[in-house]
Amino acid sequence: MCGIVGYIGKQKALPVLIDGIKSLEYRGYDSAGFAVSTAGGVVKSKKAVGRVSNLELKIEEKDIRHGNAGICHTRWATHGGVTEENAHPHSDCKGELWLCHNGIIENYKDFKSDLARRGHTFKSETDSEVLAHLIEEFKTQDPALATEEAVRLALLSVRGTYGLALLDSKNPGTLIAARNFSPLLIGVGDGEYIIASDASAVLKHTKNVVYLDDGEMAVLTPKSHKIFDLKRNTINRKSEELTWDIEEAQKGGNPHFMLKEILEEPEAIENSIRGRIVAKEGLIKLGGILAVEEKLRNAKRILIAGCGTAYLAGKVGEYMLEEYGGIPVKIELASEFRYRKPIFREGDVMLVVSQSGETADTLAALAEAKQKGVLSLGIVNVVGSTIARQTDAGVYQHVGPEIGVASTKAFTSQVAILALLSVMLGRQRDMSVVMARRITEELSRIPELMKKIIKQSEAIKKLAKKYQPYRDFLFLGRKYNYPVALEGALKLKEISYVHAEGFSAGEMKHGPIAMIDKSFPSICIAPSDSVYEKMVSNMEEIKARSGPIIVIATEGNKKIEEITKDVIYIPKTLEMLTPLLAVVPLQLFAYHFGVLRGLDVDKPRNLAKSVTVE
Ligand code: M6R
Repeated sequence: MCGIVGYIGKQKALPVLIDGIKSLEYRGYDSAGFAVSTAGGVVKSKKAVGRVSNLELKIEEKDIRHGNAGICHTRWATHGGVTEENAHPHSDCKGELWLCHNGIIENYKDFKSDLARRGHTFKSETDSEVLAHLIEEFKTQDPALATEEAVRLALLSVRGTYGLALLDSKNPGTLIAARNFSPLLIGVGDGEYIIASDASAVLKHTKNVVYLDDGEMAVLTPKSHKIFDLKRNTINRKSEELTWDIEEAQKGGNPHFMLKEILEEPEAIENSIRGRIVAKEGLIKLGGILAVEEKLRNAKRILIAGCGTAYLAGKVGEYMLEEYGGIPVKIELASEFRYRKPIFREGDVMLVVSQSGETADTLAALAEAKQKGVLSLGIVNVVGSTIARQTDAGVYQHVGPEIGVASTKAFTSQVAILALLSVMLGRQRDMSVVMARRITEELSRIPELMKKIIKQSEAIKKLAKKYQPYRDFLFLGRKYNYPVALEGALKLKEISYVHAEGFSAGEMKHGPIAMIDKSFPSICIAPSDSVYEKMVSNMEEIKARSGPIIVIATEGNKKIEEITKDVIYIPKTLEMLTPLLAVVPLQLFAYHFGVLRGLDVDKPRNLAKSVTVE
């Protein structure tokens, strides 16, 4: 996602900034920019779309000689397209205050119209620029106000998340930083400070860092720093020593991106649903599909297409949209869809699901629908990707870059968005406010519940160790957890290279049960839901044939231990949302299993993160 680097100290700022921002390139971004102080008391800024190398091409010899303070940013678009105007840093009207912002200012529109009425002019479509003007407005209203105080008042006024670095041309000896649910740390050097959204950007210069907490600000000069909260309480925090190297830092201290991304799932869900639920009215507000809301009201059928994990998220969506959205749904493997002669009907809507937004088969399925004049929607993570651009409307996932080849946080985010879509369509049809509230309240609790599962990672690792000798696995689930069984098997095979098959548990007796014996374990997803008793029958059948069983069950279900002692408990939630929880232990199991086999789980053999060829 977006990256921030800020510098103040004895060196020329620009080379340090560019060097720092390059170490954040692994996070993915679509544009970059910097702003540095100059001897003349003005700030110079340059921006470029694309790689940091494009920005470097714009740097002239004289830029390098500029001042000793500056800020730099790589942007991962959320509000507004990928353009130079939307790239950071953003400034106020006078070009005095320059800021880089990570996160989302949720109520920026309220401020933007008010500020425009007061004469502020905006150069970008971003929420971040509004913050620069809001700070300027506080200073305009009280010219004696110190910039740090104007920043504090502005931050108290807005709602949302931020990692913030601000440079004031009138006070180039000071850098201001702030954090709220978007990481920011301060590297403490000898006569210099480096602010960064990620430790990898400071490691070359110092290993001493001070972490900002949510709701805190920092004011830095080359020789000192002060930290305080938004109520102006001073915070005395000692610096800590980083023991990571750069590669470890990029993984947030985790041994692999895959693990980092599993651990990020609670936050990813928060980011995917933030600002999209109008709790009181039980309504869903998906900005990207607002323009086609009426068409969706009249839609008669939804066709969902995707590949791999994205297809399986769509398959969970099929169950949700039919049960709660009240609309017929057909899920399609994009790679098959493109070669059939699909028959579209009046009122059809095509929904494509893709993390990368670049998957060739999914693009081909989309093209088929577009050619037939069908309304197309996308659920996509990468902003500005081909699918995002080619669909008529869509919903961004906002989960940040997924680097591990095995898709994890993208899956749960896609399922969460499909749940929102189900409520939205349901409310357009016959879903009551009460039901909508029940679903959205429970969806909002999912991040907390996920954290409880993540805490069991060590116990899951032990199970992965116990089952190391096996080379065949069956994954079984029913109804909402049938796609989860398929996803569990896909995860295990792609990163462990062991044979794993997912089945609907009801299909067992139609063939797969023939494989069961003591050397063929089954992983059964059996939360306490409407098909629980059926799952118990399946497990009894497996046990009767000496098949080892691991079960994912609901907390409190001790009776399940009569069938097997290898139980992973997940918290209770609504049946339709159980996939969001049940998949996490399966991801962790696959991760530990692969690592224990000594494999490179982030880059499994023969696979690519984005499959842009057929
Ligand atoms: O970028 P996409 O979501 O369109 O990618 C689709 C599949 O290629 C992807 O989910 C793949 O199956 C992953 N390796 C699964 O972990």
